[in-house]
Amino acid sequence: MTQPKSVLVTGASRGIGAAIARSLAREGWFVFAAARSKSECDVLAREIAATGGRAEGLELDVGDVSSITHAIDRMKDRDLTLDGLVNNAGIAISAPLVHVGEDLVEKHLRVNFHGPRRLIEAFLPEMRRQKFGRIVNVASSAGLRGYKYVSAYCASKHALVGYSRAAADELAGSGVSIACVCPHYVDSPMTAASVQRIVEKTGRSVDEARAVLAEQNPGGKLVTVEEVAATVVDLMGDGRNGWLVELDGATSRVLERR
Ligand SMILES: NC(=O)c1ccc[n+]([C@@H]2O[C@H](COP(=O)([O-])OP(=O)(O)OC[C@H]3O[C@@H](n4cnc5c(N)ncnc54)[C@H](OP(=O)(O)O)[C@@H]3O)[C@@H](O)[C@H]2O)c1
Repeated sequence: MTQPKSVLVTGASRGIGAAIARSLAREGWFVFAAARSKSECDVLAREIAATGGRAEGLELDVGDVSSITHAIDRMKDRDLTLDGLVNNAGIAISAPLVHVGEDLVEKHLRVNFHGPRRLIEAFLPEMRRQKFGRIVNVASSAGLRGYKYVSAYCASKHALVGYSRAAADELAGSGVSIACVCPHYVDSPMTAASVQRIVEKTGRSVDEARAVLAEQNPGGKLVTVEEVAATVVDLMGDGRNGWLVELDGATSRVLERR
């Protein structure tokens, strides 16, 4: 059997990351499905194996340097090359401007920006050596515009988009590509938590609260996790360097390409 290409998908225990892991496994990638809750990643890996794919659960806290080192060591133990990286793990915590403070900003930057940056730095030497690498960052429409009450989240996603643009310029022609997908509200557990907060604050029903968020998407619908996953598969497939793709609930728009 030929050696499969391997990919690390962070934040794969649920939501968008789990959908990306399933889709990449269907495309033949060996998927390291990583998150802090390893047991959920193991369940996903077993599900992928049961449908003919190859995957392994991995414990990883992207906000912790030693956890990143440990996870990469585990991947190298499998004797697979580091071919793909999907930086999907993320957090979003709301707060009004006056209550944001250093800690909340630092927490968002640690997970949503420094986590991806550190992983890219860890993967790049091998990717450059083999002149092959596919990196996709799951950013957000919050990396392109602002949303009230989530300034720390928006700042961290803007940082990720800006970093990705610079990295794409630097990596051009190297065989390593880096791209970003920027979805608006996605139908995932993260959005379900926002729905729950709206229900508690306003007394609206769950359906009404979901409609409030869906209406904020230019396409008028929540983006599905499968749509995000399909975009990641496309970006990975032929190594689209410097691409910035926005998903608004109805359409997928390429905002930039190199
Ligand atoms: N939902 C949306 O509307 C939306 C829109 C645009 C962009 N996004 C972005 O899409 C990505 C995935 O979002 P989602 O909606 O699928 O969120 P979710 O349902 O809350 O899932 C988040 C994932 O990230 C993992 N995670 C969180 N902190 C982590 C850490 N420190 N280290 C490793 N893994 C961590 C979680 O697993 P553990 O808790 O087990 O670690 C989980 O697997 C995020 O980057 C988010 O910002 C989401």
